[in-house]
Amino acid sequence: MRRKLTIAAIGATLALGLAACSGGGAGSTDGASEGSGGGGEGGLVGVAMPTQTSERWIADGDAVKKGLEEAGFEVDLQYGNDDIPTQQSQIDQMITKGAKLLIVASIDGTALANQLQAAADAGIPVIAYDRLIRDSENVDFYVTFDNYNVGVQQATSLLVGLGVLDEDGTAVPEVTGPFNVELFAGSLDDNNAHFFWKGAIDTLQPYIDEGVITVPSGQTDIEQAATLRWQQETAQKRMEDLLTSTYGGGTKLDAVLSPYDGISRGIITALQNAGYGPSRSDANPMPVVTGQDAEIASVKLIQDDVQFSTIFKDTRKLAEQAVVSAEQFLDGEDPEANDTETYDNGVKVVPSYLLTSDIVYANNIQSLLIDTGYWTAEQVEKGQA
Ligand code: BGC
Repeated sequence: MRRKLTIAAIGATLALGLAACSGGGAGSTDGASEGSGGGGEGGLVGVAMPTQTSERWIADGDAVKKGLEEAGFEVDLQYGNDDIPTQQSQIDQMITKGAKLLIVASIDGTALANQLQAAADAGIPVIAYDRLIRDSENVDFYVTFDNYNVGVQQATSLLVGLGVLDEDGTAVPEVTGPFNVELFAGSLDDNNAHFFWKGAIDTLQPYIDEGVITVPSGQTDIEQAATLRWQQETAQKRMEDLLTSTYGGGTKLDAVLSPYDGISRGIITALQNAGYGPSRSDANPMPVVTGQDAEIASVKLIQDDVQFSTIFKDTRKLAEQAVVSAEQFLDGEDPEANDTETYDNGVKVVPSYLLTSDIVYANNIQSLLIDTGYWTAEQVEKGQA
């Protein structure tokens, strides 16, 4: 019964959270306390989220908070404004306030060892949320998606966009390129960025080896491709620099691997400013650009044939899993894991619960995002929540 209530509440909260979100909003309340919930006879749970500049973290925070409150806990939800010291002090304060459990989506996964030691000293279990916390033995559980497979899906959708693969993943041998592709990665201090990259590169490498795909800039190391804090502006600037350095003499760019929708929008802006598109059906077509998170502005771009694909990770399910795991901990049980091998944080392998993700193309926006209630048809039409 409690679990059913939790799931229903999470669904309702996501709808509210997304409705309240302005779509890539300015995050002006970042760093501010979201306050504590009512009731709370189950005790206080601290929830630390990285930023409000991306819709997904707002939806995650709201859904986790609501689910915990429905399960009888008081919740201290904080956003760290993508600033490491802010998140560190928010977690310190949660411990001081007497939190019984922490759920943490880190900004820099290597920067929280002191906080986690303090939590362990106080007997407080820690669940890493979406992003693994590294270099600490005091991470007790990890809820996330299959991040390597997210990278595989990103690269697969790029190959589909180029026509090298059918949408069902079947090779189309007569399409041999060579295609000019540039590669973007996420923030190197986020463990997920490395998993997305590895999944994508493992998928693309055979095509690079066969000469179907070339990377004209030569920037094929994750360090060269990285985007600190996943920032849209940083990605736009790097795309502009690549266009200037490598595509000045009429060389045509065919596709860009992008690990996150905000980065994709920065890339698309740079490409449009340089004369590509504006859409993929124009004379000088927009290259195939991938993404992640099904942010509403990008879903609209996919519907309008500008961005090619994104990866949908249902944050409602992740929040539900975090709440279930927290309840299991606080009932004195070990949370149920479905992976005990993949996520080595440098000190130990953290038991994990992994969820699956889906590739979004223009032709399945309806079934994946609208029919499931993640976005409404009106929101997709407007490109705004
Ligand atoms: C998350 C992605 C997100 C990225 C930027 C990653 O840790 O797994 O869903 O796109 O952070 O916020």
